[in-house]
Order: sequence, then C-alpha cells, then structure tokens
Amino acid sequence: MLEVDIMRSEEVEEVIHLEYDVLGVSPFVATSLLPVKRKVVVARVDGVIAGCATVCWNDHFEIASLAVREEYRSSGVGAAIIEKCFEIAKELGFDSVWLETPENGPVEFYRSHGFCVESHVRNMYGEGVTGLKMVRYLS
Ligand SMILES: CC(C)(COP(=O)(O)OP(=O)(O)OC[C@H]1O[C@@H](n2cnc3c(N)ncnc32)[C@H](O)[C@@H]1OP(=O)(O)O)[C@@H](O)C(=O)NCCC(=O)NCCS
Repeated sequence: MLEVDIMRSEEVEEVIHLEYDVLGVSPFVATSLLPVKRKVVVARVDGVIAGCATVCWNDHFEIASLAVREEYRSSGVGAAIIEKCFEIAKELGFDSVWLETPENGPVEFYRSHGFCVESHVRNMYGEGVTGLKMVRYLS
C-alpha cells in the first residue's frame, strides 16, 4: 500500500540514507544549513520508505530533491510525491513550484507534471553540465 506523508522525526536517518543511495548527496542535510523553511515528503510502500522529496521555501517554493529507490520506480511513487509537494505549496499560499535539474535528468518526467523550462544555467552541475530551472504554475 502506498502512503504519502510528511517525514516523522524517527525517519530522518532512513531519508538521509535514501538520498545518498539514490542521489549520492543529501539535499535534506545540505538544506539544513540554509535560511529556508522546509519539509520532507516521504512515500511509504508497506511501511518502507520508497521515495522522498525535500521541499523548501522563503520567497518561493522549491522542490530541492526528489528520489525514488530503483526497485520502486515506474509505479507512480514519484508522481504521488510530486502531487503532495503541490498540495503543500498551495496550502502555504504559493502559486508556483520551482526546481532545478540537469539537462540530462528526468526533464520529461517533470514536463509530464506540468513543469516548463524557465531558464538554462551553464555549468550548474559542474563543467559542461547545463542545469534547467523549471517551474510549475498552480491553478
Ligand atoms: C525521476 C524519479 C523520481 C521518478 O520516480 P518514479 O517513481 O519512477 O516515477 P513515476 O512512477 O511516477 O513515473 C515514471 C515515469 O516517469 C518518466 N520518467 C522517469 N524517469 C525519467 C527520466 N530520467 N527521464 C525521462 N522520463 C522519466 C517515465 O515516463 C516513467 O514511466 P516509465 O517507467 O513507464 O518509462 C525516479 O526515476 C528517480 O528517483 N530517479 C533518480 C533520481 C533523480 O533523477 N531525481 C531527480 C533529480 S533532479
């Protein structure tokens, strides 16, 4: 059974492991040093964390990371997490959701959830790797 919710305090370690395993970094840890408010959305499948997203906000609302464990992909976990992020942004009164992704990242996945490319940033992910700033306007 898939359940999407806000991370519980006892799940912090599992989320950090998931981010390192999937992304090689932990945006949850990195954003703890930033002057932003944040929440972590977790997707549990039969009680196990299958994926997570760190969202943060001050003047704009951003999905700082999205990661789904490989064995749980292609079954709607990423989609369910994204929808929960939109719900949180709306509850907080934001009319748009932002994210950054490498141009060779899951751009089509984000497009299929209504994001469009707002700008290209050269070398955002290191020499020669262009990043895309994408935005989804909430109606
Ligand atoms: C991107 C990601 C979160 C999607 O999670 P998911 O649970 O598989 O997503 P869903 O099941 O809701 O949707 C799957 C669909 O999204 C699309 N999709 C997923 N990853 C994609 C990619 N890298 N490029 C293009 N389309 C992609 C495909 O249409 C896919 O359908 P398919 O499996 O039938 O081909 C997951 O693949 C992931 O964690 N990737 C590695 C980490 C990552 O790239 N994070 C984003 C950093 S900016």
